[in-house]
Amino acid sequence: MASGRILTHGDAGKDYPGNLTWDVLITCVVAAMVGLIFGYDLGISGEVTSMAPFLREFFPSVYRKEAVDPSTNQYCKFNSQILTLFTSSLYLATLVASIFSSILTQNLGRKISMFLGGLIFLCGTLLNALAQNISMLIIGRILLGIGVGFPTQSVPLFISEMAPHKFRGALNVCFRMCITVGILVANVVNYGTNMIKGNWGWRLSLGGAAVPAVLAVLSSLWVSETPNFLIGRGDYSKAKRKLQRIRGADVDIQAEFDDMVAASEALKQVKHPWSNLKMRKHRPQLVLAILIPFFQQLTGINAVMFYAPELFKTIGFGSNASLGSSAITGGVNVAATFLSIYGTDRWGRKKLFIGGGIVMLVFQSAVAALIGTKFGFSGAATDLEKSYSGVVVSCICLFVAAFACSWGPLGWLVPSEIFPLEIRSAGQSIVVAVNMLSTFVIAQGFLVALCFAKYLLFVAFAVCVLVMTLFVIFFVPETMNIPIEEMSRVWRTHWYWKRYVDEDDNGARISPIEMI
Ligand code: BGC
Repeated sequence: MASGRILTHGDAGKDYPGNLTWDVLITCVVAAMVGLIFGYDLGISGEVTSMAPFLREFFPSVYRKEAVDPSTNQYCKFNSQILTLFTSSLYLATLVASIFSSILTQNLGRKISMFLGGLIFLCGTLLNALAQNISMLIIGRILLGIGVGFPTQSVPLFISEMAPHKFRGALNVCFRMCITVGILVANVVNYGTNMIKGNWGWRLSLGGAAVPAVLAVLSSLWVSETPNFLIGRGDYSKAKRKLQRIRGADVDIQAEFDDMVAASEALKQVKHPWSNLKMRKHRPQLVLAILIPFFQQLTGINAVMFYAPELFKTIGFGSNASLGSSAITGGVNVAATFLSIYGTDRWGRKKLFIGGGIVMLVFQSAVAALIGTKFGFSGAATDLEKSYSGVVVSCICLFVAAFACSWGPLGWLVPSEIFPLEIRSAGQSIVVAVNMLSTFVIAQGFLVALCFAKYLLFVAFAVCVLVMTLFVIFFVPETMNIPIEEMSRVWRTHWYWKRYVDEDDNGARISPIEMI
């Protein structure tokens, strides 16, 4: 592929020149396609579990409660642990897979982990589409989870290593964009398959995941390994050629290459990346790697993404209207992600985090107030005026839009760019694992929590958004425009984190004079 130049950059201080070549752009976009399979699964299951034929076949007791018994408390209609296990089992499997994926990406490369992930995912899709009983459904979901776990760990890493740092943010957000497109496609497919007569529409919905899976397998064959990985294997000349190609033929890559080699040498000295993560000097990265994905899920986004149809039915919508409304939230999610592509490398990560947090806080609180006013604590079903339902859906859309501009993409981007090479792979695994564990808890717990806490659940999400916004203000440094190999300087100059990074590798304190 030609290394034609699209954009050039260069700035003051320690900087590695690099162009946004066709090579890097296409490679990153292709890698990000893997996000599609993740997105499709995020979007598909909650909606399938609201479809009457699916419920009738696998979860008859929920079906009876939901469709036949109108006296049921609205908040508790879908409260079944096995039903939610269908949605949540995927995230538990993803969690485990992402941990093994770190070993795979470190030893065999980022590419193989993307490829294997796609293949396993394909098997899971087939099991789900042909399911005859709950076991087939759950085993299929577990395979899907393993398939998602490998690439979710390796793709953000892959993109961060390939992209010139000026464009790293925007390119990484492409991964996130594919997740949102996957969710939207799932929403639209569900809307269509729900209208199919003959009770098999849900099989089409679940089987539809084969399309992004095949795409992911093919795209993983197309991408090549990152220079960082080639250097790690000792293939220096190939790595240098690769770096030259991805940065542009006319670019002086020597400085960046030398630093990559130095970082890799340092990596070879690291025998135990996992225990290194616990070192005091890596405390800032470790804390952010745990808290950012954890907070991302505490926004309550997946209560909407997974259970929007159930939620909309709970507040009185009919089946098609519910699926239609969740397709609208899916569309808003995609549209708002464009804004974050524009903004991450222009306005910075912090401004987006904080701005998005404030807007989410407002509309999450509004949703709590609207649902609380209408259903109170009893959850007694009432007739909803159209205008009232319209306001609820609008508030949910604005909440989703704010998430999609901020915590959605940044919850993946910021953790992927803060680790030094020696702990990068293990660190990224922690990010995925925490994200998946929190996603699992939300997926498994949301419907039961709704039944128990009623509208106060949304108040709790709003409080979490407030806490995480304050956390960003005080503890998350700006990482825009900082080369990934130079990231240590953000900790050294941070008012709080600087006390953790002034130790050498043996844990001895470095005096201020030595640091200079
Ligand atoms: C989150 C997912 C969420 C999705 C919604 C992603 O960034 O990690 O949990 O479902 O955004 O678009």
